[in-house]
Amino acid sequence: MQQAIAILDSGVGGLTVAKEIMRQLPQEKIIYFGDTARTPYGPRPAEEVIHFTHQIVDYLLQYHPKMIVIACNTATAVAMEEIRARVPIPVVGVIHPGARAAIKTTRKQIVGVIGTEGTIKSRAYEFALRQISPTIQVVTKACPLFVPLVERGMFRADQTSQVVADSLADLQGAPMDCLILGCTHYPFLSDVIGSVMGPQVSLISSADETAREVSTILYHKGMLATSPVMPVHQFFCSGDPLMFKKIAQSWLNEQIRVTPVVWQVSHII
Ligand code: DGL
Repeated sequence: MQQAIAILDSGVGGLTVAKEIMRQLPQEKIIYFGDTARTPYGPRPAEEVIHFTHQIVDYLLQYHPKMIVIACNTATAVAMEEIRARVPIPVVGVIHPGARAAIKTTRKQIVGVIGTEGTIKSRAYEFALRQISPTIQVVTKACPLFVPLVERGMFRADQTSQVVADSLADLQGAPMDCLILGCTHYPFLSDVIGSVMGPQVSLISSADETAREVSTILYHKGMLATSPVMPVHQFFCSGDPLMFKKIAQSWLNEQIRVTPVVWQVSHII
């Protein structure tokens, strides 16, 4: 099947998932939407995030994708079920894959979760983890300052290290053996997060397990790409295309073309 996989996020975070899908499924064409004009989603009310997610899905449906990947934990937590009920193609989120990856890794049955305010408030990871392992202990912490740093490309700056150290101070010394990066932006900061948490804590990103879920669904539905011609991916963003392109090219290690999308003023809240 030659239709694309559509991936969306509030900004560059979903590229961490896109990169893993590209690696595990190199024949699949990706269309990616980063809503950089309205990032961050984390502090916004759930209704607003739901509204934005529907808008982006409508935008992407013009390209007739075969699957939608909501590569944003905040949007997965509040909007995935509505989107699934509305669109006639498979919709994959990032929370259940992240929870599965943590369950596979933890030996102590104590898992930490960091994410945006919206994701942590929704308790979606606690529900997903306990659905699989009811007695698991979960320690959570919202880190609202991380996403703006990533959107500015500040992955290793001194300011970033300080913000990460301050934000994670409560979790240091907690008895967890793995920490879910419950926001797709956070793998951009994994060196800094890893050095703050120490080697005894494994960092879990949902990217790998999400790509595996995408691959499994496409295989079982007979929807895998069959063309031997390497796909040309498409990228859209609603904010500054230059910053998006700079971050995306360095993360993906390839040259890309970014098409700016201008929301009507009434769409920008
Ligand atoms: N990358 C998104 C997430 O996984 C959104 C972050 C934000 O915009 O606050 O939650």
